[in-house]
Amino acid sequence: MSEPLTVRCELGDITTVHVDVIVNAANSTLLGGGGVDGAIHAAGGPEILAACRALRRSTLPDGLPVGAAVATTAGRLQARWVVHTVGPNWNAGQRDRSLLVSCYRESLVLADSLGAASVALPAVSAGVYGWPLPDAALAARDGLAEARPRLTHVGEVRFVLFSEAVLAAFRAAFEPAD
Ligand code: APR
Repeated sequence: MSEPLTVRCELGDITTVHVDVIVNAANSTLLGGGGVDGAIHAAGGPEILAACRALRRSTLPDGLPVGAAVATTAGRLQARWVVHTVGPNWNAGQRDRSLLVSCYRESLVLADSLGAASVALPAVSAGVYGWPLPDAALAARDGLAEARPRLTHVGEVRFVLFSEAVLAAFRAAFEPAD
């Protein structure tokens, strides 16, 4: 039985949100970068990178595959975990949409398996990786729809977006005009 679910699309900095899980748009190395990845590592502190390095030395020697998700400590962030996921890089020719849908589905299912009640997610692949709007938002909608029947703890999903344009695309995807 899945929990009743509230879904919100909001403008903001995901590192300031108080939820159980913050999802990071990482790259396969898990060793940091710019964008939301850089912001999460900067705000969360070195514990997150140390945990990512430990994963690279153990269960993920070749890095995190595109479309997959893995959890680490959230360090100093107001969250219990960071779930890192790697979106397909449109600009590098990675155009398999199912991998972007998988990022959202796998991140939400993993957060739920940790017992998270609330999850904040960014617009994966919609920045440096160049995935076009509105499809970046529609993929988030599809990923949530695929995860929803498997959620037993998550009751609050917050898409935290960094620009008006991305917010508008997500609102259109999740709250279509009647
Ligand atoms: N809070 C919320 N959203 C943010 C924040 C933030 N603090 N900073 C950036 N964003 C937004 C971007 O504006 C974009 O809409 O997150 C979305 C995803 O952009 P990126 O962070 O560039 O992620 P992505 O497109 O998936 O590219 C991943 O970029 O940062 C590197 O290491 C990362 O190599 C990886 C690549």
